[in-house]
Amino acid sequence: MASKILVIDDEKIVGDSLRKTFEDEDYEIETAYNGEEGLRRARGEAFDLMIVDLKMPDISGLDVIRTIREEQPDTMMVMITGYSSVDSAVRALKIGAFDYIPKPFTPDEISSVVERALGTKERLAREKREREAFYRLYKRAFYKPFKGEESELIPILQQVQGEIGFLPEEAMLDIAEFVGVPKSRVYAVATFYAQFRFTPIGRKHIMMCRGTSCHVRGAPRIREEVEKQLGIREGETTPDLEYSLETVACIGCCGLSPCIMVNNKVYAKMTPRKVAELFAR
Ligand code: FES
Repeated sequence: MASKILVIDDEKIVGDSLRKTFEDEDYEIETAYNGEEGLRRARGEAFDLMIVDLKMPDISGLDVIRTIREEQPDTMMVMITGYSSVDSAVRALKIGAFDYIPKPFTPDEISSVVERALGTKERLAREKREREAFYRLYKRAFYKPFKGEESELIPILQQVQGEIGFLPEEAMLDIAEFVGVPKSRVYAVATFYAQFRFTPIGRKHIMMCRGTSCHVRGAPRIREEVEKQLGIREGETTPDLEYSLETVACIGCCGLSPCIMVNNKVYAKMTPRKVAELFAR
């Protein structure tokens, strides 16, 4: 099936030239000439990817990306602009754009970004399906240690998330049935606690220490730098599912503070510079 791409740019020539660039590809290209029209189109039909101009007469491209990321987190977003600056690039990536390209760009440049974005979207969807299938296969084993009482709701949510990496929709319904409460109750509990996630966790799981020893030796500055480098905050995952960020009370290496842990490997005596080097993308 052809991938659907929406180009939102007030310069008609951009949409026209992208159509030409991709005429031999299996893409369906649609265009919108301002932010309002782009949002209306996006709400009316599903797109795989949106290419959004930063400066438009009504809503800014950043606001369009922010809104679409909230409403349709699976849609990939690419920002383009003739007014490029490091600041706008960082802001675009922070709110969830997959990439950022300054105008004018060549057909090869935009083709390469579109190909990577659509490839990443496909990979993420496949990983999510695989984890959901894994849940379906082993779910009886996940519930076995429990009696099905309402008081077990949080431990069961923790157990499922620990096995799958997030809480699939199907699991939320199963848990409601297993402990005999309405599904709205399960959602209320899961959304109340920051530890629970509804999307898959990143391949690199970062744990930042917020313990006293790390705190007095500069952990807040380390955390700021990690958030700046990756464009995500505590409890979030980067759009390419590469990194997830969490804080913990103590990593258990207080003598090496301030420290962080990435997939069980401890990085000791961190500085903002070391963080920048570690997460340079
Ligand atoms: S306080 Fe940070 S590792 Fe213990």
